[in-house]
Amino acid sequence: MSKKTAESILSAKQFSRNDLLEILETTKKIEKTLETKKEIPLLNEYILATLFFEPSTRTRLSFESAMHRLGGKVITSVGMQFSSLAKGETLFDTLKMVEAYADICAIRHPVEGASILAAENISIPVINAGDGAGEHPTQALLDLYTIKKHKPLDEKKLKIAFIGDIRNGRTIHSLIYLLRHFNVEFVFISPAEISLPDVYKNELKNQNISFYETENINDIKDSDVLYVTRIQEERFIDRKTFEKFKDNYVIDKELVLKYSSNCIVMHPLPRLNEVSIDLDDTPYAVYFDQAKNGLFTRMALLLRLLNINF
Ligand code: NCD
Repeated sequence: MSKKTAESILSAKQFSRNDLLEILETTKKIEKTLETKKEIPLLNEYILATLFFEPSTRTRLSFESAMHRLGGKVITSVGMQFSSLAKGETLFDTLKMVEAYADICAIRHPVEGASILAAENISIPVINAGDGAGEHPTQALLDLYTIKKHKPLDEKKLKIAFIGDIRNGRTIHSLIYLLRHFNVEFVFISPAEISLPDVYKNELKNQNISFYETENINDIKDSDVLYVTRIQEERFIDRKTFEKFKDNYVIDKELVLKYSSNCIVMHPLPRLNEVSIDLDDTPYAVYFDQAKNGLFTRMALLLRLLNINF
């Protein structure tokens, strides 16, 4: 077992407020630079491995695009069925190979804590790109960047409403850990069965951050940010429970205008019916910009983990 030396991104909990401000700053610089340039070739000698054992579009593609725009190279393994895991290889043996082939890796895996296990066993930086219903820290970083772009952080208390599958939505869990460093209050809107797990509630209580939980969608009232998520079908053991919740909340233009006309509407995507397409061409909808910010944020993170200044 090799000794862990490099910094990894395993949980959003690991970041201090200063870390976050630094990452936001670099991300902004990268976004600005890419307005006039196609590449920032600082990682020519480096290889990123993307190991995705659960479906992904934005996360994997933006990591890979980020590496390419930094002049680096990418190797990838997608889906258990196409990797040697399908032949019975353990994740540990797979990772030992990745350590030899790449300088940094991003892992998405259905088991909570999989990236922690990975980081304990290999010496290159590991990025948690989503571990089951656990966390998705890099998504939360791009979410934070998106919020800051549209709503100044810390000027006044921001009211952030999370809507949907709050129990299983890993992007929400990570974003809570980041937002606790800023001046915010939380509203969690979900059916009780899929509400916020205790571990996150306790974290908020310990830090005296105000939050309330409700099933009523009208409680989005006067929010600055509506963060909507899909019901995470893949986390439900029986389909009936999923069917019961799947169309509970639909955020559309009428609802936003009625209750929360100063808000931005965010969604990590993919969306099902929970954000109506009638919002798409309104100023409320920032979810496509949010996805675009994934590129800049992940470029900043690759540079940071490989200790390259920009
Ligand atoms: C999210 C995920 O995979 O957790 N998607 C993403 O990374 N943009 C959200 C989801 O799948 O609902």
